[in-house]
Amino acid sequence: MQVDQVIGARRVCGLEIAFAWERVVGAGNIYDVARASGLAEVYHLAKAFGLAKIFVLVTICLISLTSYQTAWAATGPETEMPISPETLKLAEKAALKTLQSLQNQLSEQMAKNLVTSIEYCHENAIPLTDDFRRDNPAVTAIKRTSLRLRNLKNKPTADEEAILKKWEALVAKGKPVPDFESKVFSADEVRYYKPLRVQAMCLTCHGQPGGELAQAIKSKFPMDRATGYKEGEFRGLIRISVKPQKVIEASAK
Ligand code: HEC
Repeated sequence: MQVDQVIGARRVCGLEIAFAWERVVGAGNIYDVARASGLAEVYHLAKAFGLAKIFVLVTICLISLTSYQTAWAATGPETEMPISPETLKLAEKAALKTLQSLQNQLSEQMAKNLVTSIEYCHENAIPLTDDFRRDNPAVTAIKRTSLRLRNLKNKPTADEEAILKKWEALVAKGKPVPDFESKVFSADEVRYYKPLRVQAMCLTCHGQPGGELAQAIKSKFPMDRATGYKEGEFRGLIRISVKPQKVIEASAK
C-alpha cells in the first residue's frame, strides 16, 4: 500500500474509531484503541455489545495503522511530511534576495577598496539578510557552503556535503544540476538548497587573484581552497532553513 493511501485510510479510520469507541465506552480516542492489547480484546468488546460492524471497522483500521507504521519506519520521517509550495516559494525568495544583495554589496565594496571588500563575501556581513529575516521570521538560517572552502567556518554539514557531492558528480558527468533540492530536516526545519555557479564578478577573488588582494586572502584564510575557478563552474550551494509552522502562521494572517 502507498504511504499516502495508508495515511488517508488512517485519517478516515481515526474518525470512525473515535466515533465507534465513543459509542462503546462513552469517551476515548484512537490511541486507546491502538493500545488495547490486540484484536481479541477488541473482538470480545465488540461482540459483547453486539457491534459486528465496529469489529470489522476496528480490524481494518488496526491493519491500516500497522502497515502505515511499517511504511513510515521504512521510509523515515523525511518523506512523512510534504513540503508546502508556500515554504518552497519563501525559501527561493530568501535565496535569490540574499545572493542579489551579496553581489550588490560586493560590487559596491570592490569599487571602493578591493582588499577590504573580502569582508563582504559573507552573508552575515550584509544587513539585508537580517532585514529579510526580520520580515520573514519563518526563515531561520541562511548559509553558503562548498567542497572547496575559503573559510573553514562554512564547512558543510552531513546533509549539505551529500548534496554537494551528488551535484559535483553530475557536473563531472556533464549532466545538469537541478535548480534546487529540499528536504524535511526535522519536525520544524525544512532545508532548501540552491546550487551556486561562478560568475564573472566572482573571479576577482575566486579565479586567480593577484598582488595585494591575494596576500590579504592568504593571510586571512591560510587554508583557502577557493581559487582557480573559471566562469560558469559549480562553486557550492546556498542553504535556506525554513520553519514550516511559521509559514502557515504567516499565510493565515
Ligand atoms: C571580494 C572578493 C570576493 C568576491 C568578488 C567573491 N567572493 Fe566568495 N568569498 C570571498 C571570501 C573572503 C569568502 C570567505 C567569507 C567568509 O568568511 O565566510 C568567500 C566565501 C564564499 C563562499 C562560501 C564557502 C567558502 O569557500 O568559504 C561561497 C559559496 C562563495 N564565496 C561564492 C562566491 C560567488 C558565487 C561569488 C560571485 C557571485 C563570490 N563568491 C565572489 C571573497 C569573494
